[in-house]
Amino acid sequence: MQKITEKIRLLCTEKNAVILVHNYQLPEVQDIADFTGDSLELARVSQKLKCKVILFCGVHFMAETTKILNPDKTVLIPDLHAGCPMADMITEEQLRREREKHPAAAVVTYVNSTAEVKALSDICCTSANGVKVVNSIEQEDVIFTPDKYLGSYIERQIKNKKFYLWSGYCPTHMVFSKSGIEKLQKAHPTAEVLAHPECRIEVQKIADRICSTSQMISHAKTSKASKFIICTEIGMLYRLQKENPGKEFIAGSHNAICPSMKLNSLEKVLWALEDMKHEIHVDETIRQKALKAIERMVAIP
Ligand code: 13P
Ligand code: SF4
Repeated sequence: MQKITEKIRLLCTEKNAVILVHNYQLPEVQDIADFTGDSLELARVSQKLKCKVILFCGVHFMAETTKILNPDKTVLIPDLHAGCPMADMITEEQLRREREKHPAAAVVTYVNSTAEVKALSDICCTSANGVKVVNSIEQEDVIFTPDKYLGSYIERQIKNKKFYLWSGYCPTHMVFSKSGIEKLQKAHPTAEVLAHPECRIEVQKIADRICSTSQMISHAKTSKASKFIICTEIGMLYRLQKENPGKEFIAGSHNAICPSMKLNSLEKVLWALEDMKHEIHVDETIRQKALKAIERMVAIP
């Protein structure tokens, strides 16, 4: 019997498809990727692809961002229910009202958001480039949505701007606590603490470094440290360990599991390619507006 991974690879050739996989995906899904990365890297990679079909293994907003950037390609997601609760913490209507309250402010929106919210924003950012993005805008006032923790991290790096932070957050990153990390630090005194900016502020403050998921990978490779306490979704540990076999990676919490990210199984990847489902569609007017905010971000080196 043909192995599922062989079937997937054959279908990719047959359908001229490329598989993009986010760093939080299940190990077996990461292993069949053409490209693995964080939100920013995958958005950048998608623009350079010559294929007809992109199968995006991640959550809905990531596949939607890929569709916005690649309107002529078919973009598929293995499970349509793979949403991001943080992205749903602000609606188009709520952002419209927030803009009316602060008319002089620029709206900076984390890519973890819907296409409709992006369309109402001046520029997008990811966890990898938030500080650069906010520094690139002229306005002194900034409405930052939807993640209050990423927003607060950026605010602490930039002194000359006034921030209005939306109150969204990631439930998965809320499980990391200051006391939990301090216990791990006592048990592993030489370990470096790497935290995603979606973590609570008190966790960010005791971390040695705040990084996007791919920045964790590049830092782990070059750092002199041989042990790391990782404060982000548990799927990260697989890639970190695989690419750094001589180093040790300790989970900041074993409960940091994003249920949506785990919906994309290898079977669903196969079915998605067999049946060309589930296709991502974005209304053209919304797409054009959201594209401006994403392209403005992608253009920042
Ligand atoms: P990255 O952009 O760092 O990959 O993060 C995306 C995300 O959803 C974090 O929870
Ligand atoms: Fe959304 Fe959090 Fe899951 Fe990232 S880890 S996709 S922010 S719910």
